[in-house]
Parts: sequence; structure tokens; C-alpha cells
Amino acid sequence: MKYNFDLIIDRENTSCVKYDLRKEYFGKADVIPLWVADMDFETPDFIRQAIIKRAEHPIYGYGIKSDSWYQSIINWLDDRHRWSVAKNQISFSPGVVPGFTFAMLALTEPGDQIVVQPPVYFPFFNSVTDNGRILLHNELIENNNYYTIDFDDLEEKLRHPKTKILILSSPHNPVGRVWKKGELERMVDLCYANGAVLLSDEIHGDLILSGQTHIPTASLSPKAQEITVTFMAPSKTFNLAGMATSFLVIQNPELKAKYDEMLNALHLNGGNIFGALALEAAYENGGDWLDQLLNYIEENVDFTQDFLRKNIPRISFQKPEATYLLWLNCKSLQLSDEELRSFFVEKANLGLNGGIVFGPGGSGYMRLNVACPRAILKQALQNLSEAFRDH
Ligand SMILES: Cc1ncc(COP(=O)(O)O)c(C=O)c1O
Repeated sequence: MKYNFDLIIDRENTSCVKYDLRKEYFGKADVIPLWVADMDFETPDFIRQAIIKRAEHPIYGYGIKSDSWYQSIINWLDDRHRWSVAKNQISFSPGVVPGFTFAMLALTEPGDQIVVQPPVYFPFFNSVTDNGRILLHNELIENNNYYTIDFDDLEEKLRHPKTKILILSSPHNPVGRVWKKGELERMVDLCYANGAVLLSDEIHGDLILSGQTHIPTASLSPKAQEITVTFMAPSKTFNLAGMATSFLVIQNPELKAKYDEMLNALHLNGGNIFGALALEAAYENGGDWLDQLLNYIEENVDFTQDFLRKNIPRISFQKPEATYLLWLNCKSLQLSDEELRSFFVEKANLGLNGGIVFGPGGSGYMRLNVACPRAILKQALQNLSEAFRDH
């Protein structure tokens, strides 16, 4: 079956962040919203039908996670990532951000240090500081818009006796890297040698572009398995973020017991019945849809790169290895971060995330979400090009 990603769907007045918070976030309710990381494509029918069928049953009482829920995860990880996991290694979380926050609470004490690798998905920062832990920045190294890890700095930070966790974004949001086996192995080795736990946020792990392979960190080796807590979800892959449903794989029984104890202590183990159903329907039926989605996203990425090269060569980006997020280098415009944001909003009528919110290394960048029908992307790029005409 051929899915239609060109279809434009009106999302206004659905209480959604991306459209209905524009006035509040950008000061203008009509910017083309290419910011928060969800997609403007319709949810595939095999997920919608599962939800509708359940919604027609008139009682929405407490739910359980059935054997088929676990099995759908096990099959998906085996099929898409060649990773074999067992039911008793899977835990639930009502979202990946809550999940790594619970894990941090379970595995560290206030005052402990946690390493993150900016520029990075900014809730990593708040999750740490809101809970009285101390944030350490292992800033990525940028070379010609391509990012790598500063391993010497990472080692120094992990060596400190108060450092207990590395939070890894794999693939990395916003720089779009799919970490290679050697890079992952070095991070695992450094964490292992220094007694740190590696929280591997793999929420973008299904959104891999051509020529790349995502390796779940924990699948690397027994050593990796011992120290890694993996966070995954159908939310980015199938556009189900509003379902607040994700899961963890924890193969070290001691770490898993600590996580599960925290989740139970917070009384957040229940989830919601529609989220559970959506996950199962997505993983059972979603392979072909996902392959087609990835083709479409890749074409959007290529279209953007082509357009910028021809029309706005002052903005550049490295083609991402994963995700639908483009990390636009706007440094040659020589604008402050406030001016840059204002240029996009006021002159181009575009709502993007300013790079500065992603922490050190984010200044002078804008993050563009291209998970939208091509006609919207074309209009957005046209707007930008016209804004440059009068700049
Ligand atoms: C790296 C990363 N982790 C987590 C999330 C959000 O996870 P959730 O909505 O499940 O809390 C995002 C969303 O953009 C993300 O990019």
C-alpha cells in the first residue's frame, strides 16, 4: 500500500503544542510551525482503527500491559534492530523524559553529577537541575557541521567520583548523528571503567536515513548490557507523542529493580489504555509505513539542502544521519540569537527552535523540523528566501 505523506491536515484547535502554542511561543499565531518534534503526517490507519475499535467499547477502566504488548516490542527490536530482549527486561514509562528522570532519581542522590553532550535536547538539562543533581557539559566537537565526541573531556568528567550517569542521545537530537560502533564502544568503556550508568535515549532510533545503521548501545557487548538503561518509544517513529507511552530495556536486573521500584513509588506504572494499544498496533503493522515515511523525510531533507545551496548559501547544514530535524548553521548571518529568532519569525513568518536553547554550542543555529508535507516545506523555504531578499 502506498501512503500519502503529501496530505495537508489542519491541526489548529486540536490543543496541540506545535500549532496552538504559536502565539504564546513566537508572539504570532500564523507562523509556519517547524519547531517541536512531532510530524504533520496523518497517523496510519492500522493505528487509528485499533484506537477507534477500543473507543467504541463504552468502558475505559484500568488497563494492563498484555503479553502481546510485550511481544510486539520484542518483535520490533528483533526485526528492526537485530536486538534480542526478553519480556522481563522491559519496563514502562509514560514518556522518555519522565523515564530518564525516574532512572536518575532511582540511581543517584542529590548533589551527584550527570554528564550530557550539548548542543542537545534541552529537557536533559532541566531533568538534572530540577532534581538537585549537577549538570556537566561534555560539549560535542563541531567540524564543518559534522559533530564528534570529545572523549578526553568525557573521560575527565566521568573520572570524578561524584559523576554517576552519562545521558546519551542516540541518534543525537539536534545534530543528527548516528553514533558508530567504535564511538559507542568508547563511551561504554569509559562509563564502565568509572562506574557510571549510561542512560541511552534512543527515541529517534527508528528514524534512520539511508546508509546508516542504528546500534542499540546495550546490544554492543555484555559490558554495555550491564551498565546501560535504554529508552525507546513509538512516539517519534509513528507520531504518537500525545499518547504518553514509552518503554525501557534494562538487562541488568539490579538496575531494573531500582527503576521499577521508583516507578512504583511514584505510582506511574499504569499508563493509558490507548497508548498501550497504539504502541502494539504500530509495532505489529508499521514496518512498511515507516520505510515509506523515511523515504519521504529523506526527500524533504534533500530538497531543503538543494534549495539552501541554490538560494540561501549563507545557511548550511550537514545532512542528518537520522531524525527529521535539521541543524541549520546560521552563523554567517552574524546575528545575535535574539535577532536570529526574530528574523525567522518577523521576516520569514517561520516558527523554528532557536539553537541556543540546546545549550553550549547552540548559539547561531536554528533547528528545522522537516516532517511535514512537501508543499508546506516549499512554502517555508520560499518565505525564507524572500526574507533574505530584503536583508
Ligand atoms: C532525544 C529526545 N528524547 C526524548 C524526547 C521526548 O520524549 P517524550 O515525549 O517521550 O517524553 C524527545 C522529543 O523530541 C527527544 O528528542
